[in-house]
Amino acid sequence: MGPVHARMGTLHTPSGALVYKHRALLHEHGSPATFPEMEPHLRYQRIAEISAVFTPGSPVNTLDLFAGRKDQILALLAVLGQRGQHAVLYGERGVGKTSFANILTDLFHDKSATPIAAVRVNCASDDTFASLWASIFRRLRVSVDEDRPLTPEHVVDLLEQQSRRPLIVIDELDRYENDDGLSLMADTIKALSDHAVPATLMLVGVADSINQLIGDHRSVERALVQIQMPRMSVAELELIVDKGLSKLRMTISRHSKTRIARLSEGLPFYTHLLSRSAAIHAAEDDRAAISERDLDRATQDAVDKAQQSILSDYEKAIRSAHTDNLYKEVLLACALTDKTAEGFFSPGNVRLPMARITGKNVTISAYSRHLNEFAGAHRAAVLVKDGSPRRYFYRFTNPILQPYVVLRGIADGLMTEDLLTELRHPGKDSIELPEQA
Ligand SMILES: Nc1ncnc2c1ncn2[C@@H]1O[C@H](COP(=O)(O)OP(=O)(O)OP(=O)(O)O)[C@@H](O)[C@H]1O
Ligand SMILES: [Mg+2]
Repeated sequence: MGPVHARMGTLHTPSGALVYKHRALLHEHGSPATFPEMEPHLRYQRIAEISAVFTPGSPVNTLDLFAGRKDQILALLAVLGQRGQHAVLYGERGVGKTSFANILTDLFHDKSATPIAAVRVNCASDDTFASLWASIFRRLRVSVDEDRPLTPEHVVDLLEQQSRRPLIVIDELDRYENDDGLSLMADTIKALSDHAVPATLMLVGVADSINQLIGDHRSVERALVQIQMPRMSVAELELIVDKGLSKLRMTISRHSKTRIARLSEGLPFYTHLLSRSAAIHAAEDDRAAISERDLDRATQDAVDKAQQSILSDYEKAIRSAHTDNLYKEVLLACALTDKTAEGFFSPGNVRLPMARITGKNVTISAYSRHLNEFAGAHRAAVLVKDGSPRRYFYRFTNPILQPYVVLRGIADGLMTEDLLTELRHPGKDSIELPEQA
């Protein structure tokens, strides 16, 4: 940070004037490499702006920052077009379910051009069927006759009377630990569907909670369109970077943008985390252009300043009294394997990345014990084990841990970013991405 120049006398004007000055400057010269030097409080304002645009901790709720998900939007619009059809949206933690729900409700909510009234509620662990619907009707601004209990019939009656068609998003279904409530919800969906009531429910949760809903109540299956929210593609993740930086009037090279997208491993949480941190490093230097070095520092931040729960799970998973143990390598190989859409992999899948990390050809027996241990409480149960003897499958219990293990592997020198690119895009690793500021 350099001294404030005399030419920045205008800094004493309100910040709005300075923003205006920036804009004029940007307009004249395109995207500059640096912002005019700033007074510290303006620099902090800029950092605050960055933190409002890249929000790893909270869902997106405006369309200008929302990237991709076209297939899912189309699938939901098709459901909305059909009476008697409802949707379940499921996907891993942190994959972008709530952001998607926010955007949908934002698209429709209170827009007089559309006859749809969209609301979103979150389930809480102590919610009952009645408390959940009471809060839905409150949000729909529908008054409920207090003397009549909120049963499925009552709910259906009330929804039938609405002039604007309700689109009701029930998020965090996995928190709704109420078996009776789940049965009543299934009954409600069935009744809405049978009576072709012009109202649409969208239930949102992780796959397990959806299985629980449908598994025990097969009769609702026909009324429910299942929309999977997969991890995001590299192109979608790059779009998150683009949208955020264009709002901030900052730039990044194509190469760095692709690095962010690849290191995110499909989880937009990491795209926000890395972009925010890299942008802040640039802003601290009054630069509008994010450099490769800013991104290197951001990846290190992601390792050093990860959520405490992630750090402690990782440490617990790899701890050992023996220096020649393989826990770190095996966990990293698990993070690098090809997985099913639900995140599952088999012990056989671990072989290739294991060979690439250790430089040796290993057999499954060299690490099957480690996999088994990772599923136990002693190693923080970082993996979930499923299947039967001789055909076991594993997945990361917390999907957010998986990209962390990769970032950590790179930071600790166990692997390179090139290996990640090669494993994710076999045959394409030789393509050189052009540098462009
Ligand atoms: N389409 C998107 N465009 C831009 N950012 C996104 C998008 N989807 C998700 N994000 C970002 O990714 C992170 C996780 O998103 P979100 O909270 O919506 O996920 P989730 O699936 O609801 O997570 P959880 O299972 O923990 O409730 C947030 O930082 C959010 O801002
Ligand atoms: Mg959510």
